[in-house]
Amino acid sequence: MPKQIHVNLFEMNCVGHISHGLWVHEDNNRHRFNDIEFWTELAKLLEYGCFDAVFLADVIGAYDGFRGGPQTALREAVQIPNNDPLLVIPAMAAVTRNLGFASTFSTTYEPPFAFARRMSTLDHLTKGRVAWNVVTSYLPNAARNFGHEDEVEHDHRYEIADEYLDVLYKLWEGSWDDDAVIRDRANRTYTDPAKVRYINHVGEYYRVAGPHLSEPSRQRTPVIYQAGSSVAGREFASKHAEAVFVGGFSLDDVRGNIEDTRARAKLHGRDPDHIKFLAGAAVIVGRTEREAEAKYAEFQRLRSVEGHLAHSGAGLDWTRYARQERIADVVARKDPGYQRLGYRYKPEQTVGEVLDRVGGYRRGPFFVVGTPRVVADELEKWVDEGGIDGINLRQFLTPGTAEDFIELVVPELRRRGRYRESYTDGETLRERLFGAGNPRLFDVHPGARYRDPTALVA
Ligand SMILES: Cc1cc2nc3c(=O)[nH]c(=O)nc-3n(C[C@H](O)[C@H](O)[C@H](O)COP(=O)(O)O)c2cc1C
Repeated sequence: MPKQIHVNLFEMNCVGHISHGLWVHEDNNRHRFNDIEFWTELAKLLEYGCFDAVFLADVIGAYDGFRGGPQTALREAVQIPNNDPLLVIPAMAAVTRNLGFASTFSTTYEPPFAFARRMSTLDHLTKGRVAWNVVTSYLPNAARNFGHEDEVEHDHRYEIADEYLDVLYKLWEGSWDDDAVIRDRANRTYTDPAKVRYINHVGEYYRVAGPHLSEPSRQRTPVIYQAGSSVAGREFASKHAEAVFVGGFSLDDVRGNIEDTRARAKLHGRDPDHIKFLAGAAVIVGRTEREAEAKYAEFQRLRSVEGHLAHSGAGLDWTRYARQERIADVVARKDPGYQRLGYRYKPEQTVGEVLDRVGGYRRGPFFVVGTPRVVADELEKWVDEGGIDGINLRQFLTPGTAEDFIELVVPELRRRGRYRESYTDGETLRERLFGAGNPRLFDVHPGARYRDPTALVA
């Protein structure tokens, strides 16, 4: 049996997520993101196409580092306006039976107790179809929205996140026994009090008494997604994540990152196969090569270079420099913004190359334009040679990108035995990733230790 490919749609509750400029395309629906129908229609489409899940990114601040303010982000709709990702999930769940929902939430600014209840609520309402993408947030403006002068230092954010997850595991896994809710009408007992406990967490950053307010949901802990690429980030992922958005500059680089994260997982006592790796993928498909190329050319024509620069986190406005100048030379002049150069820039590149790359769509190693056969070949190569388990499909048009994928790529993948013919009805999202009988965290996952009540006291 060839390895099947997991496919998530990469989404965000906003107009411009990562394909800046394309909201102006006449077939693009992004401006409808405030409407509940935008989400219910999308969910039904993805379920028809048997996607694993819709993945919702999130930021809690504005991109205001470019040209000294949020003007470019506002004009180009670069992740502002944006709405809360968690709140569209129940609407999508109500019109689907099997589609999964992965939402981003940051561990840095809001304490864990209320979030634990929100996720349990979603796990109940979706019958075990939710995942949480753990992020620590990177925008300075986000810090200022939550009462901080500036961002919490990068590695320190991961330390806080580690304790944050510890609190959540105690609430989700340890506070209620499976058989706590008995609904015994005759004895007027809804919940057996002997089977629910305080967690009494006292740590460096949080003090949380519990008990958890929600009764156990199907998955208890939502599937944990993560996308860290720094050493601290990969270390965190190897301990906690069950699905990782793996980064890298090339297929080899991605494979190396996968191997590194799997090796680290082993050191945490986990089975390295208990982590699935998803790569961000840009797929522009057409019935013919020409049709696909025409779509790509149109996207390139409509792209917003300034929007991408505002998003990229570079404090420098590269449009102000001559195209042939080297990045290193510009940086050497110590422009005030140079410290926020970001990983996307290499010193030997020219300004022109940066503008073409940052502003263009042929970016990131997984980019394919072509017929369904060409796309399927590329996907198979990434699975077989890169070691990925699936993709996070980048959107150019909504719903056009998903429609194209479902209409053209899915049948080709099915012919090759690489894509499910149907869902296993009623499975949890975790079971979709790890097989039937695995609705909960694996026993060797660090969160599972709190199933033993004595671990809560330690
Ligand atoms: C596919 C993908 C999606 C991400 N989505 C978000 C997001 O929605 N919100 C966010 O704050 N960060 C997001 N990030 C950033 C990561 O959480 C992380 O900060 C980044 O990959 C850098 O890793 P590091 O923090 O270990 O340096 C995303 C990263 C990737 C690769």
